[in-house]
Amino acid sequence: MIRTYCPTDLARIKEITAICFEGVSIDRNIEEAFGVLGIDWRWRKLRHLDADTAEANAMGVFVYEEGEQLVGYITCRLDAESKIGWIPNMAVIPEYQGRGIGKQLMDYAVGYFRDAGMEVAKIETLDQNPVGQVFCPGMGFEEVARQIHYAKKL
Ligand SMILES: CC(C)(COP(=O)(O)OP(=O)(O)OC[C@H]1O[C@@H](n2cnc3c(N)ncnc32)[C@H](O)[C@@H]1OP(=O)(O)O)[C@@H](O)C(=O)NCCC(=O)NCCS
Repeated sequence: MIRTYCPTDLARIKEITAICFEGVSIDRNIEEAFGVLGIDWRWRKLRHLDADTAEANAMGVFVYEEGEQLVGYITCRLDAESKIGWIPNMAVIPEYQGRGIGKQLMDYAVGYFRDAGMEVAKIETLDQNPVGQVFCPGMGFEEVARQIHYAKKL
């Protein structure tokens, strides 16, 4: 079942993120290249979820519950001026992957964008994320750009 996020979900969403983005996070890559920067990559990645779920964006965060357990989520940001809806983060815990939950969450997000008057939806995936590169085109997204991230130790 999909429902709108409530603040008591935040800790679980962060837990899911730390599990699911282990191999597919820019913050993690920076740590691998330069070592732990004071606080580990999870703290930096999980901080994104604070922004995604902040009051202004919270109505665009949706969670998937299986029984009592929250097993996946998707975050959405609206841009009323450009009419481009952005999905900064989504994840489904490994034990529940491959059962169509990600697809349902994405369909729900797209419906939310349409209802809010968005004309385009966008999402990014890393080159090192083979699932994202199947999942996104499979959901009807077209590739529009590739970006290279550089970092330099100071
Ligand atoms: C991406 C993610 C959310 C997909 O969630 P999911 O619930 O497993 O996805 P679904 O079961 O709905 O699968 C939808 C489609 O994604 C693709 N897919 C899912 N898992 C896949 C895998 N392991 N390998 C290749 N393609 C896969 C398939 O095209 C699938 O469609 P199909 O079942 O008709 O073949 C999940 O794998 C995840 O949390 N990954 C880690 C976090 C992440 O990468 N997030 C950003 C994604 S851009």
